[in-house]
Amino acid sequence: MLVAGCGRTHHGKFLVGFSQANLGEPWRVAMNAEVAARARDFPDLEIVYADAKQDNATQVADVENFLRQKIDLLIISPNEAKPLTDIVMRVYNAKIPVIILDREIDADTYTTFIGADNRAIGRAAGEFADSILGGRGNIVEIVGLPGSTPARDRSAGFREVVAKSPGLRIVHDPVANWLREEAMTQMEAVLQAHSHIDLVYAHNDPMAIGAYLAAKAKGRDKEMKFIGIDGLPGMDGGRQAVADGKLAATFVYPTGGKAAVEIANQILNHETVPKRITLPSDRVTP
Ligand code: FRU
Repeated sequence: MLVAGCGRTHHGKFLVGFSQANLGEPWRVAMNAEVAARARDFPDLEIVYADAKQDNATQVADVENFLRQKIDLLIISPNEAKPLTDIVMRVYNAKIPVIILDREIDADTYTTFIGADNRAIGRAAGEFADSILGGRGNIVEIVGLPGSTPARDRSAGFREVVAKSPGLRIVHDPVANWLREEAMTQMEAVLQAHSHIDLVYAHNDPMAIGAYLAAKAKGRDKEMKFIGIDGLPGMDGGRQAVADGKLAATFVYPTGGKAAVEIANQILNHETVPKRITLPSDRVTP
């Protein structure tokens, strides 16, 4: 008998392609580690990994390559929404289930989306900023990769709150593409342009720490508070930066790696799964 489409076509195992946006950022390394750890509990799943190195064209090619390998399911964390939408659509329209992690595409052609609510996290960061500033102050917002949906949503949520608090002003909003080094460079220019800054809201912890280091190098780190997002454990993570007094707060952004493997297993075993799974976040302060 011939078995077509989704089934145990690969030596009795399901082949799952996992397309990661990049492995240069610690949060994504943590996501892959979570996937690999949970996959050990599902011997029927064989996971193949691809690293797009922050490049949309590479990520499209990675997924095309998965299609040639005849994957049974795709897990993807897209680098940017628009450039990855068509290829995800192609996979989904070929009746291959798709799990999207953390960053979204511009369509609903996927089986399940797993991720935290970035708009809500942005709002929570805004409320925290408003409260520690007592409703007054100059804010710098350091923006992640603009074509990635968490940057858009973390900004929108934060600005919703700032708009309601007339004493808060966003004086500068440089783009640093999620990267610590770029945030350092951007912050150096911001420090030159503004003689007084009360708070830096960065869309992730690496950028918050980069901004902190730039301010510290100029002897201005005590002048302002720093807020980040991710809250990774470990020596270089955001939790430690909060414990060390570098960041006033971070917001946990779960990677979803564990849930992705569990949902993949359910889909491949023909169980029904929700269209969206919203992971919880948490505020971390000293
Ligand atoms: C890693 C990262 C995280 C951030 C997430 C948003 O690539 O920049 O720091 O929370 O992506 O998608």
